[in-house]
Amino acid sequence: MPDTLDPHVRFGSNSGQPITRRDGLAKVTGGATFAADNSPDSVLHAVYVPATIARGRVTALDTAAAEAHPGVTHVVTPQNRPPLQGDPSDKPTMFSFRFEALQDDTVRYAGQPIALILGETLEAATEGARLLNPRYEIATPRTGLDDAAHYTFDPDAFGKPADTVHGDPEAGHAAAAHSVDVTYETAPQYHNAMETHAVVASWDGDRLSLDMPSQALSMTCAGIAYYFGIPAENVTLRSPYLGGGFGSKAIPTGPYVLAVLAARMTGRPVKMMLTRQQMFGPVGHRGQTRQRLRLGTDAEGRLTVLDHAGLSATSTFDDFIEPAANASQGLYAAGALRSTHSAVRLDVGTPGPMRAPGEASGSAALECAMDEMAETLGMDPLEFRLRNYAETEPGTGKPFSSKALRECYAQGAERFGWADRPLQPGQMRDSDGLRVGWGMGTAFFPCPMFMAEANATLRADGTAMVETSAADMGQGAWTALAQIAADSLGLPLDQVEFRAGHSGLPDAGVAGGSGHTATAGSALHAAGGDVIRQLGEIAAADPDSPLHGAGNAGYTARDGRLYVAGDDSRSDAFADILARAGGAEVSGAGSASRAPEAAEAHAMNAHGAVFAEVKVDPDLYQMRVTRLVGAFAAGRIINPRLAESQLYGGMIWGLSFALHEEARHDPARGHIVNADLAGYHVPVNADVHGLDVISVHEDDPYVNALGVKGVGEIGITGTVGAIGNAIWHATGKRVRQFPIRIEDLLGD
Ligand code: MOS
Repeated sequence: MPDTLDPHVRFGSNSGQPITRRDGLAKVTGGATFAADNSPDSVLHAVYVPATIARGRVTALDTAAAEAHPGVTHVVTPQNRPPLQGDPSDKPTMFSFRFEALQDDTVRYAGQPIALILGETLEAATEGARLLNPRYEIATPRTGLDDAAHYTFDPDAFGKPADTVHGDPEAGHAAAAHSVDVTYETAPQYHNAMETHAVVASWDGDRLSLDMPSQALSMTCAGIAYYFGIPAENVTLRSPYLGGGFGSKAIPTGPYVLAVLAARMTGRPVKMMLTRQQMFGPVGHRGQTRQRLRLGTDAEGRLTVLDHAGLSATSTFDDFIEPAANASQGLYAAGALRSTHSAVRLDVGTPGPMRAPGEASGSAALECAMDEMAETLGMDPLEFRLRNYAETEPGTGKPFSSKALRECYAQGAERFGWADRPLQPGQMRDSDGLRVGWGMGTAFFPCPMFMAEANATLRADGTAMVETSAADMGQGAWTALAQIAADSLGLPLDQVEFRAGHSGLPDAGVAGGSGHTATAGSALHAAGGDVIRQLGEIAAADPDSPLHGAGNAGYTARDGRLYVAGDDSRSDAFADILARAGGAEVSGAGSASRAPEAAEAHAMNAHGAVFAEVKVDPDLYQMRVTRLVGAFAAGRIINPRLAESQLYGGMIWGLSFALHEEARHDPARGHIVNADLAGYHVPVNADVHGLDVISVHEDDPYVNALGVKGVGEIGITGTVGAIGNAIWHATGKRVRQFPIRIEDLLGD
């Protein structure tokens, strides 16, 4: 157990408080500056020109017509595009994917760049782009899972999900008294954060300045620097606010590189912001999947085997394999477990991490298959899960660092009223005659830590400044991380200045994987602890301090005072200690990453249970999710208001996955026909009727010194399956693809 902090002891007055966002006022009054709000003098506007076919070749562009436009300054095409120093096929950082940046005239997916137009105004550049009138040689696009050969990859290669087998699956199938064999499909989805990808790039010699939303500042700087042949420290990246990311803003993608290239080529600052339509292709997506689940149980309903085979779509030029089948490795205690993955290359942009990559798609299929198994057994779905959830990590038998799943099931079911659920489908109607169905799903998500660093400075006046490059995508990092920092320094929140969102600050790692609070928060906690330790040394050595000579006892810091540990009668104010020491500041540093021995000894996951009520119109088959109740145990909650909001968000994305989001390709040209927010549906307020989140208390002494797990993505898991299962319960119809559409329910 880490000795830096006993997580069972509350360590300050800030953590645990439902403080509103510190940046809320700036955001709602327009004071917060997003990347595209920056307009340096003499800025050129870049307009990205995407391919409108998915496969083939560009045979002609009317570059002369575009260049003749009086406001157009440059037309950049593969013919005149200056070289990059780093090959776009290389992988300079952990999150690197090969990208299209006008290397040649080949079209590999719809939305790939075929030109970049620069103009004195956005309007001129936009008109210039229209004048290009591209012509193509069109090849038959492959956009469906059966349009190309399925392949198996080397699972040891980076980013490829490993195939995992525990026990003897064939024996498990043979021993099963009951079994199901079902195949689910999930649609391609596109992140579509509210803020589209934007960049303002300026060069000064070989130094590059960027305003650009980033979930991973130092990795983005390193990636961009590589392509331009400069040291990473020559890149200054400002990313104070992001209008959402969902995974798509962790990677320096092709459009960004082209805008930076245009700035270097012209010697002027360049601004580019993708349109909503242009978000469908070059900046990643969630690849479509097909998942076959074969489950078997003994006569009592105990799983003898859980066999999950995933097929994921990737692009023709790089591999991101949605690790969907891995979802079956962490949750249920089957006699044998097998997860395998294969892939298919389609004429689409390379997928990437999006809102619980792997877990979201995998849990959707797994939780529905679990329901089908319960149905086969004639067993209540919750009872079936209670019989099968794992007390130790399935396969390895490792203990969990903490696991409050049973409490999540119990509290969620109680709040929802699950006990009144009829076993058979199609039994419930509301007073308007709508069919009512109830379903549930188990939620879970890993709780990783990345590497982060932070600094803290206690100023002579007793206030403090802390800094780390942390990214706030809207989740509330500016607030929750500041709460942790304030507690580590024993100060009220309003006396701590929090600096973040700049690449010059200590590296806060990645805001992703639901690990940002745990990672950056732990670094801030350590930095504050370093300051307090030094302050204690100063006080102990000072004959005029009430703490003189107390060095061995240790200290606690609260409300701007240092106390001898366990002796509240002896204390000294921070400002007094520093004043007697000559008015100096005290600076400390901290870093954080998961202790390898802790990861070795324990399986670490957050858990939850989601219960859904749907209503289905018996004539029109319109589906409404009328209630979602989620109970989640995710370790220490730093800010209940923001954590609840994160969990609401995850559950809404689950609703979105279940009933709304789907990119559809034109069969002839392969482009996405619904590439905007009119055609690509996400839930709006009218789709979200009742959300209820229960935060289940959980002390985890192993995950990190703070006991923080993470709440960013777990809400989507469990929810998708719960809604699919509720639709079955309302209608008796089992739809095995997401999103579930009205036409899937017709004809019963
Ligand atoms: Mo993410 S998909 O953890 O930004």
